[in-house]
Amino acid sequence: MLLTTPRFLRCLLGGLLLSAGAALANEVADPNVVVDTSSLPPITAATPAGNPYRGQPRAIEIGRSAYNQACSRCHGVDAVNKGQVGPDLLRMDRACSRIADPAIREMCVVDNDDFFLKSVQEGKTRVGVVHMPAWKEVLSPAAIWTIRSFLESRKP
Ligand code: HEC
Repeated sequence: MLLTTPRFLRCLLGGLLLSAGAALANEVADPNVVVDTSSLPPITAATPAGNPYRGQPRAIEIGRSAYNQACSRCHGVDAVNKGQVGPDLLRMDRACSRIADPAIREMCVVDNDDFFLKSVQEGKTRVGVVHMPAWKEVLSPAAIWTIRSFLESRKP
């Protein structure tokens, strides 16, 4: 009888949530990730909104290395996502790619750029559980844009 009291159930549920939280709360951004963007044009106040390195081969190369160091363990090596804990990042621009008008499509992609930057900088925490660590202390905006460029180059 004791085992089915609401109080016991609440305790059990609380315990489960706490242990799940403890397991995931260890997710921190790996401080040993090294990304050298010094060969790319610097980002300044005059740089327009959105990814300034889109389609640039050097940025894509740097981004591939950065991605595989920092992101692959959750989103899949080389962005090949097969049952990874993190979502498939190659699907992010699907809705934009269906927009026929080039100007509106461009706005959609720049919007996703902004979402991408913020997601990576701040990470993803839901009800106190860190699903993805914040990378702003480890990755510069330039480094994050190289990762976005790499991912875009991988789209099927
Ligand atoms: C510890 C695992 C982990 C690592 C490391 C990680 N992520 Fe994530 N990421 C996740 C999870 C889990 C989600 C989904 C979280 C949610 O929506 O609550 C996510 C979500 C995202 C999203 C939002 C996607 C969407 O469509 O909503 C982006 C963008 C992203 N990650 C990029 C990156 C990049 C870039 C890196 C490397 C710098 C990275 N992540 C490293 C686990 C991780």
